[in-house]
Order: sequence, then C-alpha cells, then structure tokens
Amino acid sequence: MAQKLAIFNMKGGVGKSATATNLAAGLVKFKKKKRVLLVDIDPQGTSGASLGIPIWKLETQLKDVLQSAPEETQTLLKAAIVSTPGGVDILPSNILLAVEEIAISGLPGRENLLKRALSAIEAQYDYILIDCPPNIGVFSINALKASDGVLVPVDMSYVGLLGIRGVEYAFDLVKNFLEHEIRIVGVLATRYDGRKNISRDVLKSLQDHFGDRMFKTIIPDTVKISEAPSFGSSIFEHDPNGAGAKAYRELMNEVLKRW
Ligand SMILES: Nc1ncnc2c1ncn2[C@@H]1O[C@H](COP(=O)(O)OP(=O)(O)OP(=O)(O)O)[C@@H](O)[C@H]1O
Ligand SMILES: [Mg+2]
Repeated sequence: MAQKLAIFNMKGGVGKSATATNLAAGLVKFKKKKRVLLVDIDPQGTSGASLGIPIWKLETQLKDVLQSAPEETQTLLKAAIVSTPGGVDILPSNILLAVEEIAISGLPGRENLLKRALSAIEAQYDYILIDCPPNIGVFSINALKASDGVLVPVDMSYVGLLGIRGVEYAFDLVKNFLEHEIRIVGVLATRYDGRKNISRDVLKSLQDHFGDRMFKTIIPDTVKISEAPSFGSSIFEHDPNGAGAKAYRELMNEVLKRW
C-alpha cells in the first residue's frame, strides 16, 4: 500500500505546490525504483502546470474521478493520470474542479471521495503526494482524510505565523467531526532569507512552538525555485546544483525518515 502525504496550509503562497512538485520529482529522481503519484486537488492546477502538464487541455481530470461511479473509477483514473518526462505520475486538475465543487459537496460520503478513488490504484504506487488548495473546504478535507500524514509548509512572514492557529484548529475539526486523527509528519520553514529579521524571528517562533515536529531542513527563498515552474521543470532539472535542489533533496530524505 502506498504511503500518502498531504501538503496543507490554509494560507496561500507558502510553497505547498513548490514542495509537492519538488518532493515528487526528487523521489522519482533519487529513489529510482519508487513509483510516485502527485494528486493536485487544488483547482488552481499549479502542481500539474509546474511540471509541464497542459492543464487547459485535459480531457479527463481529478473532478471526473471524484464523481465517478465505483465501476468507472479505474478507467477514469487511467485516463486522467499523466506522466511527466521526469517520471512523476500526476492526477491533475484545473478550474473545472472548482466548477464542480457544489456538486461534489452534495455527494454521499463527500469527505471520502479521494480516499475511495485512491484505494483503486494505490497498490501501483509507493508514494502518493496530495497538493491542497489554500482553504479548509471539501477538497482539503478529502486530502486530509485520504492521507496518513501531513506536511505543513509555513512561509517566513508574520501572517504565516498567525495562520498556524487556524491550521491547528482545522486539524481539530477533522479529528472531532470526522474521527480522523491527523499525523503531522513535519512543519517546514519555506522561503527563508537569513538576511531578513522577519525570517529569523518567524523561524525561531515556529521552532519554539513545534519543537521536534519542525523539519531540520529549511527551504531558502531563491529565484531558481520561483522560476522553475515557468520551465515546466522541477528544481532538480532547472538548477540541479543550486541551494534549492540541495534543500529539497535534504527534505526528501527527512520526509522518508519520518513518514
Ligand atoms: N523557496 C522559494 N523561493 C522562491 N520562490 C518560491 C519558493 N517557494 C515558492 N515560491 C514561489 O512563490 C509562489 C507561491 O508558491 P506556491 O505556488 O508553491 O505556494 P502555494 O502554497 O502552493 O500557493 P497556493 O496557496 O496559491 O496554492 C510561486 O510563485 C512560487 O514559485
Ligand atoms: Mg499551490
């Protein structure tokens, strides 16, 4: 059975998609025999687009899988999953996932649609990463319920630090109302710039609050990480010897130890 990790934070722009895509690409590149699926449950479609998937031309996508009758799920998964040249399998989305949000929210068992769908293919993968949207709506709930661990990226801003309370509250809601215990695999400091007081202060506050649950790896704020998606590439193709690739490779090893 695959290990399943959701990348979640309700705050936008913290590096969820950068982390999901680069982790997925790193697992394929450095753990050669491992099979990796990246699920994009964010209607922004950032994960697929960042790894070069033409997300505006999808004939079948995650929304179709989520709404499928059980006997169609396998076929739709097969039609929807696309492989990148780097070898990451992606179950992509685009804005049409948002268009279907009300319909999906009305389905019986709405919180477990992704979990149900993944059970049909998870035997084919070692790792499944799920990139969440920046909210705690039905799609994030599906991701949290389908996963057995969560990675929480936090950017080095005051607002990012404030958002932690909301994230913890959201995890409590899922635990209390949906009887699903969330295991935080780790909290990840992202977009760190050691020249800035705000980066150092936010990192220190996070370390004080989370202790061992913080990843030791810190993702630096780099131009190369921000421009890689515009080439449809992970950081390992775009700048293999730079600080971003080094950090994401370290993170991959740390995730594998804690997962
Ligand atoms: N370490 C980094 N250094 C520089 N730029 C980064 C870094 N991580 C992410 N970015 C850039 O910051 C922006 C937001 O990153 P990303 O899309 O990964 O965040 P997100 O949390 O997935 O956002 P959303 O909540 O909208 O889904 C993007 O333009 C991305 O390229
Ligand atoms: Mg994103």
